[in-house]
Amino acid sequence: MRILVTGGAGFIGSNFIRHMLAMHPEHTITNLDKLTYAGNLENLKDVEDLPSYAFIKADICNNTIIDSLEFDAIINFAAESHVDRSILDSSPFLQTNVIGTQSLLEAAKKRSCRMLHVSTDEVYGSIDWGFFTEESPIMPNSPYAASKASSDLLVRAYHETFGMDLTITRCSNNYGPYQFPEKLIPLVISSALQGRQIPVYGDGRNVRDWIHVNDHCRAIDLVFHRARAGDIYNIGGRNEQMNIDIIKSLLAMIAEKTGTDKETLFGLITFVKDRPGHDRRYAIDPTKIETTLGWEHETDFDKGLSETVDWYLANRAWWSRIISGEYLNYYTSQYGEGFGR
Ligand code: NAD
Ligand code: DAU
Repeated sequence: MRILVTGGAGFIGSNFIRHMLAMHPEHTITNLDKLTYAGNLENLKDVEDLPSYAFIKADICNNTIIDSLEFDAIINFAAESHVDRSILDSSPFLQTNVIGTQSLLEAAKKRSCRMLHVSTDEVYGSIDWGFFTEESPIMPNSPYAASKASSDLLVRAYHETFGMDLTITRCSNNYGPYQFPEKLIPLVISSALQGRQIPVYGDGRNVRDWIHVNDHCRAIDLVFHRARAGDIYNIGGRNEQMNIDIIKSLLAMIAEKTGTDKETLFGLITFVKDRPGHDRRYAIDPTKIETTLGWEHETDFDKGLSETVDWYLANRAWWSRIISGEYLNYYTSQYGEGFGR
């Protein structure tokens, strides 16, 4: 199958492409990515020369470019993904997450091809007790979550109206290698290694349900190959953690691994004003994907977190180039000013 993966230069998309190239040599992957601040082709350095992989620099809203491509299926990761940025300016979120998804749906409709849309548990809003199931009401609270919920509704509507082969996945918070250091876990690790303050929003007791990115990628692979048209699958690791507990675990691991004084690192923790509309708790019920597709999460959280710290320690050059802005030059140094190869 010729698969168009959109947003493949970001955190989850790049891990997914690496997974697919390793596990499914029968497919070819074209990675279409606009390379926003979050897109980084250095994430795919080790696979960029494989004959079954190609990159195209383009916007998912650009129908002319998408219409010029040949593919049999779309897996859509492309999105503006950071809640704090959506609070500062929601426009790019609506443009990419809503209009961009509609543009991909139109491209899929023209060629009667399948599309898997990668969504998020944030569409369900916040839950005080119990768990989000696929039947939970859609009640997004941030502009980011509202834009993702809108894209999910469009996918649903295109399936209902045109009978298209469309599926949606809704995953909880991911962590692992190549995550952009604006998100909580890589932000804490990179700040601690630079001796910078670590901002904790509100009382730090908000709960997120963490899953290793590799487990998410395996789940998407399964849904892509096995789900029925119109299916929605929640994906989560049954792993609720309070932010402050994760921050302390990370700092304790970093102290031990680097021989830094633990109290000095704990002294970087700085409680700051809360995120507006900050969701209190996310908790995913992954029973449907476990029972119908036989998926289960494999990565133990403490082990996964420790390996993630090791990865950021071993790949200081990767995140330092992001913090300095040097990573933005990688595309032109590899490909020149054209649009991919
Ligand atoms: P990311 O911000 O790391 O990567 C997003 C990628 O999309 C980047 O490479 C960026 O350049 C690209 N992109 C943005 N706008 C584009 C456009 N208009 N056209 C083409 N490419 C564009 O995001 P991520 O954390 O890897 O998330 C990927 C997807 O998974 C998103 O749809 C997100 O909503 C969803 N998701 C993320 C998480 C998480 O914890 N990170 C959890 C559940 C779902
Ligand atoms: O649940 C899935 C979602 O997880 C994805 O859809 C989003 O794309 C992804 O960004 C993530 O959203 P969150 O808002 O949960 O992730 P973030 O890393 O921004 O924040 C995690 C928690 O940590 C949240 O409660 C806010 C808090 N936080 C975050 C940052 C960046 C802090 O306390 N301080 C910080 O500096």
